[in-house]
Amino acid sequence: MANATDHLWMHFTRMASYSAGEVPTIVRGEGAYVWDAQGRRYLDGLAGLFVVNAGHGRTELAEAAAKQAGELAYFPLWSYAHPKAVELAERIAALTPGDLNRIFFTTGGSEAVEAAWKLARAYFKRTGKPNKYKVISRYIAYHGTSMGALSITGLPGIKSDFEPLVPGAIKVPNTNYYRAPEHGDDPEAFGRWAADEIGRAIEREGPDTVAAVFLEPVQNSGGCFPPPPGYFDRVREICDAYDVLLVSDEVICSWGRLGEYFGAVRYGYQPDIITTAKGITSGYAPLGAMIASDRLMEPFLTETGMFAHGVTFGGHPVSCAVALANLEVFAREDLVGHVRANEAAFRATLEKLYDLPIVGDVRGDGYFYGIELVKDKTTRETFNEAESERLLRGFLSTALFQAGLYCRADDRGDPVIQLAPPLIAEQQHFDEIEQILRTVLTQAWTKL
Ligand SMILES: Cc1ncc(COP(=O)(O)O)c(C=O)c1O
Repeated sequence: MANATDHLWMHFTRMASYSAGEVPTIVRGEGAYVWDAQGRRYLDGLAGLFVVNAGHGRTELAEAAAKQAGELAYFPLWSYAHPKAVELAERIAALTPGDLNRIFFTTGGSEAVEAAWKLARAYFKRTGKPNKYKVISRYIAYHGTSMGALSITGLPGIKSDFEPLVPGAIKVPNTNYYRAPEHGDDPEAFGRWAADEIGRAIEREGPDTVAAVFLEPVQNSGGCFPPPPGYFDRVREICDAYDVLLVSDEVICSWGRLGEYFGAVRYGYQPDIITTAKGITSGYAPLGAMIASDRLMEPFLTETGMFAHGVTFGGHPVSCAVALANLEVFAREDLVGHVRANEAAFRATLEKLYDLPIVGDVRGDGYFYGIELVKDKTTRETFNEAESERLLRGFLSTALFQAGLYCRADDRGDPVIQLAPPLIAEQQHFDEIEQILRTVLTQAWTKL
């Protein structure tokens, strides 16, 4: 086989870093584990990329794909339907909160986010508020890489090469309580402040120019920030007051990741749109969706009206068949209930790491956690750029992998290790994660 770097251009990858070394090549998966080309086993602490929620090696999902490809490999959803898309849309609508009954399929998360922004703009154009086109999202949040989604993304480091981006994407503070700039001693006051920052941004921009707010239930990038108490209630009030749509970007946070089918349900708020992807098929085929409320579809139901948007492979029959089979597995094995029953144990196991001097904060919910690393626990001092580079890229990612744990060491905010194992994970996996982290983080501390 040719070297992986000869022709393959890997995503978000420093290709030069592999010029001397071999690219880790994963060839097989089973349950919560994957194996590389040399036969070494790794605990998949990130479910691939927050994707393989039902776990690896599910032959029934592979069989559902083969059966559908044999029956009808492809037909578009452009003025035609196919049975699996119809069935899946009905199934999803039954699981969503409130009247989120309209399912627009895509092939992934960026496309879902892109579709949501386009829908928000088109909706307001059709309802007499044509100047409402801007969107608000949070600093450091990741919402995808296509030009619209990238504009909503709040990470300067992955945007600057591509500027100018789409105008009208406004940023507000995230909900990093560990580093709260205000109200660091009172989560409720902090939540209120962070939500009110959205209101202030709307006022600043002009309420008649703002179409939507994009928020993840737990913000991934920066390291798993759960919403402070009252945050989403207040955001909902603000959105209602200014006639701004609330988009819950659940590309990671749906399909059991937080112990509910949807993150909005976990935190008890009602979005106008949910964007999703990843775990909807547990990764056995690519699929995403923008899920809109009935109200948002209404203006498009005139005789000649349509939402002038689409992608060839959105709602691909094979992907829809796989998603249905995936949801069967979820229901039969009660994977969502399994997360609820085990999330406290996952948290408690990770919190054991607090006895290490480098572990500053363990945060998250469900099966979605970030561990923030610090130089000084008492002052919460973080690492400077050079230390972060040496620690995260130079040591931790490789050392964790070599020790048998695939997860993510990320410094797009402050340095964090992120964990999101397949939802089948249980105590033995939590223990394995904790033990590997303990060993490697202890080594890391001596290297500082
Ligand atoms: C919250 C969120 N939105 C959007 C995306 C983009 O999804 P995709 O990579 O499928 O385009 C991601 C990807 O991780 C995400 O986490």
